[in-house]
Amino acid sequence: MLQRSLIPALLSGSVLAANIPRSPAASLDARAFVSGNWGLTQPGTTGVSAMQLAVTSESTAIILDKVEHNPLTVNGHIAWASELNFNTNQVRPLNPLSNTWCATGSFLGNGTLVSSGGNPIVITGWSYSKCQNGLQAIRLFTPCTDGRCDIFEDPARLHLTSNRWYPSSVRIDDGSVIIYGGSTFGGFENGASGNNPSYEFFPPKNINGFNGVEIPSPFLSDTLNANHFPILIMLPDGDIFVAANQKAMLFNWRTNTETRLPGIPNGVRVSSPYSAGAVLLPLTPENNYTPEVMICGGSTVSDTANPSSLSSQTPASAQCSRMVLTQAGIAAGWSVETMPQARVMPELILLPDGRILIINGAQTGVAGYGNVGDQVGSSNADNPAFSPVLYDPSAARESRFSATGLSSTIPRIYHSTASLTPNGSILVAGSNPNDDVQTRKYATEYRFEYFSPPYLFQPRPTYTGLPATVGYNAVFSLSVSLPAGGTNVSVALIDLGFATHGVHMDHRFLKLKSTLSADKKTLSVTGPPSATHYPPGPAYLYVVTDAGVPSFGHKTLIGTGAGPTVDEAAMTNNAQNNSAFASSVPSPTAGEGANVATAVIPAP
Ligand SMILES: *[C@@H]1O[C@H](CO)[C@@H](O)[C@H](O)[C@H]1NC(C)=O
Ligand SMILES: *[C@@H]1O[C@H](CO)[C@@H](O)[C@H](O)[C@H]1NC(C)=O
Ligand SMILES: *[C@@H]1O[C@H](CO)[C@@H](O)[C@H](O)[C@H]1NC(C)=O
Ligand SMILES: *[C@@H]1O[C@H](CO)[C@@H](O)[C@H](O)[C@H]1NC(C)=O
Repeated sequence: MLQRSLIPALLSGSVLAANIPRSPAASLDARAFVSGNWGLTQPGTTGVSAMQLAVTSESTAIILDKVEHNPLTVNGHIAWASELNFNTNQVRPLNPLSNTWCATGSFLGNGTLVSSGGNPIVITGWSYSKCQNGLQAIRLFTPCTDGRCDIFEDPARLHLTSNRWYPSSVRIDDGSVIIYGGSTFGGFENGASGNNPSYEFFPPKNINGFNGVEIPSPFLSDTLNANHFPILIMLPDGDIFVAANQKAMLFNWRTNTETRLPGIPNGVRVSSPYSAGAVLLPLTPENNYTPEVMICGGSTVSDTANPSSLSSQTPASAQCSRMVLTQAGIAAGWSVETMPQARVMPELILLPDGRILIINGAQTGVAGYGNVGDQVGSSNADNPAFSPVLYDPSAARESRFSATGLSSTIPRIYHSTASLTPNGSILVAGSNPNDDVQTRKYATEYRFEYFSPPYLFQPRPTYTGLPATVGYNAVFSLSVSLPAGGTNVSVALIDLGFATHGVHMDHRFLKLKSTLSADKKTLSVTGPPSATHYPPGPAYLYVVTDAGVPSFGHKTLIGTGAGPTVDEAAMTNNAQNNSAFASSVPSPTAGEGANVATAVIPAP
């Protein structure tokens, strides 16, 4: 492992509150957004609880749960995955082979979703033939709109090199995916005995001396005991920003190099079970695509205390920390702001108008269930944060947060999810701090909601002519119809990502360059500058008015639509290094995993 030179003065992670760096986003013109009320509807149920959620097409989302007594069945047994149709608000069951419990997901450059990792078979009474060990699973799902696609698994040929429960993943600029970290078995936190301090690629690569097999990552050894679901964000220079526990780094996968960054200010932990939300602020031509990350929420409670000494009533962190990831920005360090409410397990959603919605989570306690001394039901957290908050990164520092004036009645705590939809609403689902379906507080939640920002109740732009694929720097024309008074529009290209545990894999916002014709009927748009600005893969394109009113976000694939290079020799080496697939999984001894081990789920 190479180590690039560290940035000595910065390693203390001190808060330079008196010396706040001028943010590139803050240099944008202040924006006036449409005002009005938010809408909230609860039009249906997801059939399985939405632990993981990803929009898969203009009309569908995939929802992944764990094996439990869900109301939805498939092939005569319990379902743990479904597809939601936004037009009908109905679900159809999907039928993975393996248990998707605490798996991750990222799309490949050709638009196929890779779901990876999961949990061991620890549930007695359940027919193993109906559900395989997911710890090393690779599941492929190629989205469709005809209701006929399903999850594909071929465990003998396609699987991870090692066990990964609670990993994260990121799509990179060659259209492949890195699967990073996780545990070899379950638990409340990640300890040295269960840690998997390594990463791997899908499809497997022969790189830096590792032929299709896992590659060590020292950062993951340095971030115990709280590095489940690390935060991963691809940056425009090709590096990946990584944050876990109280630390952050830049990771170069081409050279296998880690460069440490200033730690998270004020001792806040930001990964599960002290989960924060994180986002790359919009990359725009005006800010010269300068990357700035923001991490909100989390917790300062000890990651070495006995979990039973922790409390569901301990306030979470209200801190948001921003850092510009340039040499000067890193030298200036993190800049700290305070949310109106503390939150653990929040989701940060990039809206087409360039703002960020902070939604879901709890105001007290930590993620997980069955661990703290004063559980509520089984929940380690309490006091759900019912009201989403808006954050405008381009506004003056003192006026960035604003209330939505909206409050749901449904707790969205551990195992809840949220995503922007192609239509511009925010789909919110899940919440299930339980080992099997529960109706007591906090219940296993199947109801989903759409939060509709005021922009949805305005006359909206429409457009046609989006190509099925959009190349880098390729110029294409959209036929637009703008609402009366629309004089100026911008183009937001959004990766809707894959949501789980408050971590939103691959979620990003890239503003494309565009020029409106004099008759305001044709918008000439230029594709992303490069694959590091927007990795090849699915994207939703919103034409947005000056006042922040977006069109419907139609789907395209950035790049050529081709899949990533498949190295057959690396794949074979990966497969051969795995003869012990799905065997000899140690029994979990503490925390969440222990509850799982004692849960008995009879076959239906
Ligand atoms: C999309 O949003 C519009 C409001 O602009 C609403 O009328 C319509 O029902 C929404 N469609 C879906 C599928 O959510
Ligand atoms: C259009 O928007 C851009 C960027 O938001 C701004 O720089 C420009 O001045 C606007 N033009 C008009 C005519 O409002
Ligand atoms: C995308 O690439 C992967 C990896 O080669 C492959 O398994 C999958 O079938 C491809 N999807 C499509 C839609 O071609
Ligand atoms: C497993 O991977 C290691 C490291 O790449 C390699 O040396 C070894 O030959 C592989 N084993 C098999 C059976 O291919």
